[in-house]
Amino acid sequence: MTTPLIETRNVGKNFGALRASHDINFQLEAGARHALIGPNGAGKTTFINLLTGVLAPSTGQVLFKGTDITNVAQAERVKLGIARTFQINRLFRGLTVLENVYMAISERVGAAPFMLRPAGKRRDVIDESIELLETLKLADYAHLRVSELPYGRQRLVELAITLGLKPEVLLLDEPAAGVPSAESHIILDAVAALPKSIGVLIIDHDMDLVFRFAQYITVLVRGAIFAQGTPKEIGANADVRAVYLGQATHG
Ligand SMILES: Nc1ncnc2c1ncn2[C@@H]1O[C@H](COP(=O)(O)OP(=O)(O)O)[C@@H](O)[C@H]1O
Ligand SMILES: [Mg+2]
Repeated sequence: MTTPLIETRNVGKNFGALRASHDINFQLEAGARHALIGPNGAGKTTFINLLTGVLAPSTGQVLFKGTDITNVAQAERVKLGIARTFQINRLFRGLTVLENVYMAISERVGAAPFMLRPAGKRRDVIDESIELLETLKLADYAHLRVSELPYGRQRLVELAITLGLKPEVLLLDEPAAGVPSAESHIILDAVAALPKSIGVLIIDHDMDLVFRFAQYITVLVRGAIFAQGTPKEIGANADVRAVYLGQATHG
């Protein structure tokens, strides 16, 4: 077996007396399509926060490509290639979609962030920005201000910015949350079309999406791994169905 992109060894996180995560031994393989599911409050977001360095674990280690990064700061983990979607307020709403993506890519390549200043403008950064917007079917919106876009497409711009970092690992915590259902397919289509080279861990409550998208599923219950397996295995797991999936789903 090759070294996993991300691995946790006996990771735990306590908030006072609450064990939000415990004994988590988890692996995300290169290029994986991996879903993390579980009831509300199971500790899914906490676990992502431990992977990104937003939270420090109370016990255990986080490894990236075999190297212990438990004490590596969040910003450094981003540079290593571990990315998550940013909150919406990370976008510059008064700037255009293209300008937002340009800024993100500039940051990665060390160019000046302002494409409107002709002196510093980099053609290669513009080309890469446009290519990325095309991949996400956002090219038609390139010259609109972010504030003019419907919410679902604003979330897509966030995804564009994150992809502009050229991550090896992408952590998606309910990427379509808050997006009206009529628009949510654009997010899910974009997630489905992500470059194969990126290892993706997605948290989502939409079991149709999860079972279509994931090659591997981890079920978290009360902070611990309850079950892991292929969608077929998880769908057929009576304990998982009782705890989370209900009787009617994925027969
Ligand atoms: N910063 C925090 N301080 C205290 N308790 C927290 C904090 N973050 C999360 N929790 C608690 O940890 C548990 C897991 O939360 P979370 O990881 O958000 O679950 P999920 O994403 O699966 O819904 C919940 O009981 C939540 O209230
Ligand atoms: Mg959550």
